[in-house]
Amino acid sequence: MATTFPDTPAFTGFNEPCRFEGEVYDLVVTGTLPPALAGTFYRCGPDPQWPPLLGDDVRFNGDGMVSMFRFAGGRVDFRSRYVRTEKFVLERAARRALFGAYRNPFTDDPSVRGKIRGTANTHIIPHAGTLLALKEDSPPVALDPDSLETIGNWDFAGKLTSQTFTAHPKIDPATGEMFCFGYAATGISTRDVAYYVIDAQGSIIHEVWFEMPYAAMMHDWVVTQDYVVFPVVPITSDIERTKAGRPAFMWDDRQDVFLGVLPRFGTASDLRWFRGPCRFAAHFMNGWNDGPLVHVDAVAAEGNVFPFFPDVRGAAFDPQKALTYLTRWTIDLAADGDGYTETRLSATPTLPNAHGFMLSADPDKPYAGNKLMFNSVAHHDYARAKTTLAYAGDGCGFQEPVFVPRSPGASEGDGYLVIVRNRLLERASDVVVLDVADLSADPVATIAVPVRLRDAIHGSWVAA
Ligand SMILES: [Fe+2]
Repeated sequence: MATTFPDTPAFTGFNEPCRFEGEVYDLVVTGTLPPALAGTFYRCGPDPQWPPLLGDDVRFNGDGMVSMFRFAGGRVDFRSRYVRTEKFVLERAARRALFGAYRNPFTDDPSVRGKIRGTANTHIIPHAGTLLALKEDSPPVALDPDSLETIGNWDFAGKLTSQTFTAHPKIDPATGEMFCFGYAATGISTRDVAYYVIDAQGSIIHEVWFEMPYAAMMHDWVVTQDYVVFPVVPITSDIERTKAGRPAFMWDDRQDVFLGVLPRFGTASDLRWFRGPCRFAAHFMNGWNDGPLVHVDAVAAEGNVFPFFPDVRGAAFDPQKALTYLTRWTIDLAADGDGYTETRLSATPTLPNAHGFMLSADPDKPYAGNKLMFNSVAHHDYARAKTTLAYAGDGCGFQEPVFVPRSPGASEGDGYLVIVRNRLLERASDVVVLDVADLSADPVATIAVPVRLRDAIHGSWVAA
């Protein structure tokens, strides 16, 4: 039987599965690659191997495809490989999908009951000589950093006690320690969280278990100089709902936001929860603390941003409430009470991170796709409270950028952005290199890619 993907937005147009594995040496470059670009740009995203078991699917459920651009001596080589997850291998052998809905094992084919459902499609992080492909519902999968061959599930020498592992570990640049956690750590919709610190050699050196106030998706988090912060926002989960075939995650605006603050090497009894009004926040620009003042810079919205995680009471998706703003939540650990303050950041020109970069939707420029896609990338200069936008070009959109310093000792924010650009009308892709010093100018180099690169989720720059 021929393979046919559904005629739905998640599987057609620019989102048509690409499924290409291979390598291309010496990509064609227009312009000049700065000598600073010596290293590898890894990216990871969903690319469904098979048509979905249940007729349609959400984008986040596709099999993890990792690609790399290796920059050396003014040349760029490209390679792409699927991550051989347990799911991928079982489905490749069966030549069809066996796993069902996103994060819902009750919809799987009985032949795969109890198997690891992870797709390794969310982030790709180097640590302790290994490349880890990550999906927050399952353990990391290790890859060879040069060939992208899959080594296998990675349990840190048998020490990983959580069933899950975040797609957003944070690595301390000074110590090489990796801070990480797993939520739903003992099974789907549980409130259990396991927190770990892993040293620069890849050994787990600290572990804390605790419960979240309610079961929810905890996608990203914040690590400051002294603390880690666990943000609980009401993208809720409930096993009875999931068993009934409803989405694994649903928006519930009756719930507050909770921020759990723990010293980096604290124990469960040190954890303190702070409570604020309902917000959506999936990603965080940064976090830092000035003594007992802990600042969390969230990309926050008043309402739900993910229409595919619908309102639990059936309310319609509200695009106005889905608009996100760079927002600072400040917790005062020295004060009484369990509240925190909230400030729109554009009015807060302060330190210590002086620069930030994020994808952006410029309403003054045309969109080739819908308005939830990004037609620009933004540089926010905190000291000047100034945002500069670079437009992707007519008919184009940007994927997530990586920042590359101009030189090893360059000051913060001085360098380049390397970004995959979707050429939506041509259903094609290229990579542009933008100089942060003149972000809105033409790219200093454009790298042609002879295959279409579906939207990745996250990526990493790894210096040579
Ligand atoms: Fe993320």
